[in-house]
Amino acid sequence: QKVSQAWWWAPVVPATWEAEENLLTYTGREDQPIYLAVKGVVFDVTSGKEFYGRGAPYNALTGKDSTRGVAKMSLDPADLTHDTTGLTAKELEALEDIFTKVYKAKYPIVGYTARRILNEDGSPNLDFKPEDQPHFDIKDEF
Ligand code: HEM
Repeated sequence: QKVSQAWWWAPVVPATWEAEENLLTYTGREDQPIYLAVKGVVFDVTSGKEFYGRGAPYNALTGKDSTRGVAKMSLDPADLTHDTTGLTAKELEALEDIFTKVYKAKYPIVGYTARRILNEDGSPNLDFKPEDQPHFDIKDEF
């Protein structure tokens, strides 16, 4: 199999589609890291506690794939989903912009959701490629 090895190291990669709830624990509880996924890429946003921590304005985006909410700048629970069905060209453009200029630029990638790495039948997606992080510099975060 020529599937990339990269997803093996990812700590939050669920083994099945159903296991995407694994992410749900990482919403800033106690001393846990805070995770948020956009486009199936799981980011550690712990360094952005003032945005994403308990009681912070964007805490609702954490612990799940919030792609649709990020695209629409919406915190409506109905939009806090991976589902991009029916988004306008403008919203999709905003999504790409925020994905690159905010998330990839500021936060380390810690994993990928099952939707990103598996086919619907649970077999590995052989076209999966890990994201590069052109702007991320670990020295900026620690
Ligand atoms: C009245 C409405 C809003 C205002 C005034 C506002 C204001 C801001 C400001 C000033 C920042 C930049 C903070 C910084 O870089 O220091 C920011 C970041 C952000 N906002 Fe909003 N916002 C609003 C609504 C929303 C909504 C509805 C969403 C829903 C998704 C949203 C999502 C975000 C995200 C994802 C960031 C980036 C956080 C990061 O850097 O990790 N905002 N907002």
